[in-house]
Amino acid sequence: MSDYNKFKSLRERVWGPSESVEHPEGGLVWVRPPESTEIPLLHRLLIAEISPQAGTLETMMRVFAHNSDSFWLIERLPPDSETSNIVGFYAFLPLTAEGRAALEAHTLDTADPPLCVLAPFGDAPAAVYIWAIVARRLTRTLDRVIARAMGLRYADAPLYARVATMEGLKSGIGAGSIAVSGGTDIGMGSLIRLPPPNRGGSPS
Ligand SMILES: CC(C)(COP(=O)(O)OP(=O)(O)OC[C@H]1O[C@@H](n2cnc3c(N)ncnc32)[C@H](O)[C@@H]1OP(=O)(O)O)[C@@H](O)C(=O)NCCC(=O)NCCS
Repeated sequence: MSDYNKFKSLRERVWGPSESVEHPEGGLVWVRPPESTEIPLLHRLLIAEISPQAGTLETMMRVFAHNSDSFWLIERLPPDSETSNIVGFYAFLPLTAEGRAALEAHTLDTADPPLCVLAPFGDAPAAVYIWAIVARRLTRTLDRVIARAMGLRYADAPLYARVATMEGLKSGIGAGSIAVSGGTDIGMGSLIRLPPPNRGGSPS
């Protein structure tokens, strides 16, 4: 059985401290859905870590109300500490087929997407656009953790992203992403398609 199929046989949608894995710099790390009151914090991180142009708080609130699977907080419990803290987040746009077509045609306003191209909560998306991610040194560690949290309806969706920072560029190239435009070179601003993640096994 491939790693991918092992992921598919796991329990669906599990998250939180009980699903934690080791942080590369010590302690534990896990993901959990944000409370709606935490969206402003998430927006502040987006502005500080990526770009003020990535999206407004109003847009984030609108997307979260439409599909709460769009946002996930990353929490870390440092070694010898009893208090966890938020160290990053994932923000996704789960796209309908129409949304995926618009993304690939470069006509989708990803900073302020119309809700009609976003799959509502409970629907399987045709694709997932990584709207923003803050997860330093963590994407490979959390790959299967976020996959298990999001569950099977997201498992087959192709993953897209736009390169907005140098760290994102290095990580995207390192992971083997390809440019949607068909060119071989990936640069700042490129729309990229990520390779299917390795979602195998239980994070025990
Ligand atoms: C972009 C980000 C999510 C990538 O996370 P990640 O995949 O875990 O990668 P890392 O944080 O370890 O970082 C980048 C570094 O690892 C290297 N790297 C990452 N994945 C790699 C891979 N698969 N192969 C080789 N090198 C890789 C990069 O070369 C880079 O090295 P550097 O030390 O010279 O900067 C993370 O760096 C981050 O949250 N950055 C701040 C916010 C941001 O820029 N978001 C992305 C917007 S497009």
